[in-house]
Amino acid sequence: MLEKNEIQDNQLVIGGIKATDLVKQYGTPLQVFDVSKIRNQIRAFKRVFEENQIDYAVSYASKAFACIAMYQILAEEDAHVDIVSGGELYTAIQAGFPMDHVSFHGNNKSLAELEMAVKHQAGMIILDNFHELDLLNQVLEEQDATANVMLRVSPAVSAHTHEFIQTGQQDSKFGFDILTGQADEALEKVLASSRMQLKGVHSHIGSQIFETDGFKIETEKLVNLIKHWQADFGFTTDIINVGGGFGIKYTDADHPIRPEDFVQQILTTLQAETKRQAIKTPAVWIEPGRSIAGPAGLSLYTVGSEKTIPEIRKYIAVDGGMGDNIRPALYGADYDAVVANRVESDEQELVTIAGKYCESGDILIKDIELPVTKPGDIIAVLATGAYGYSMASNYNRNPRPAVVFVENGKSQIAVERESDADLVRLDRKFEL
Ligand code: LLP
Repeated sequence: MLEKNEIQDNQLVIGGIKATDLVKQYGTPLQVFDVSKIRNQIRAFKRVFEENQIDYAVSYASKAFACIAMYQILAEEDAHVDIVSGGELYTAIQAGFPMDHVSFHGNNKSLAELEMAVKHQAGMIILDNFHELDLLNQVLEEQDATANVMLRVSPAVSAHTHEFIQTGQQDSKFGFDILTGQADEALEKVLASSRMQLKGVHSHIGSQIFETDGFKIETEKLVNLIKHWQADFGFTTDIINVGGGFGIKYTDADHPIRPEDFVQQILTTLQAETKRQAIKTPAVWIEPGRSIAGPAGLSLYTVGSEKTIPEIRKYIAVDGGMGDNIRPALYGADYDAVVANRVESDEQELVTIAGKYCESGDILIKDIELPVTKPGDIIAVLATGAYGYSMASNYNRNPRPAVVFVENGKSQIAVERESDADLVRLDRKFEL
């Protein structure tokens, strides 16, 4: 899992800095991002499009991990972003992120969120349902504005992934259904609106996908749809947005292809299909979240207590857990870890890494072979950059960790550690 330059003197090194030095400076639990990994993955995605000479946007799915510094990096890399709430939009605005590179997603955008998006001239609104379509028309009238839109369709593709993170199958809360004609009806409505400019079609089939078949079927279905829209409605689609979902390696049991290779497969299918159907190849937008943020991040914890049940299990407990990474408890997700201050050791043992939360299910990693640890050792759980901090909670009234960005041997706080005072900031005393 670790690259050679990430281990020096038997210590874990991130972006040129020892994990133990980061811990000395910022404490634990700590979420650390290696910024060069974020940049490199965006660049790798871009290269595929450029090699294939297809217009594109790499629209990072903010939900994987968002903060002002992240949006700054994304802007510097000339990426687009997808946002799914007023909060993500607000964060992007605070970062000075270019609004014309923002796509607004969501299956229940509120009036206030749509007003905010239109006011700030978000580059693309991805329409999900008829209610929203009417609401957006109303907002555009009120603000005497226009908006670029895409229609999100559900293409009825079942990707092989956890049920909770599948989105493209027909029985889904997202998007206009193609099979029952809802997508056509939405097309007609948008074409009839003088304030909406329809740019294209969007679909997303799921997350942490390893097989390329789902993306191929999705691409074929989208090409069929745009052909049908052209033939029957005279509408030419400029952009197809195929969503995200490219799976990453969490443990040695995972063998995904490289994220950019998924994109190559999509482009190959697209080129073959558009040629076969004699239609112009549209621009392709992708929305990778996990593949950009996931491998770039890791979580540092300090080892505290232990409990050994002879012949059954040894638990070692760390100072974080399900509050900063809910994925093992929620999805049964697996992770790999190393002892950051002693990566290799002759003395190994099988342990289970438990969190500090009052819940038996608060286990970060069940059964992992690690160097024998003692209190004060630092454990790094790897590839936690996506859907870790972004899904963090204050369960048990634990403050959320700090987030640090590291690049070229320099570290900077990206998100401050929450304090106990932050935890009661919104509480109000009851008048007794
Ligand atoms: N685009 C759309 C419309 C999405 O709904 C998602 C993820 C993405 C892009 C980005 O997918 P990615 O490239 O990150 O796989 N909390 C879950 C993942 C939920 C994904 C939701 N949608 C987890 O921790 O695995």
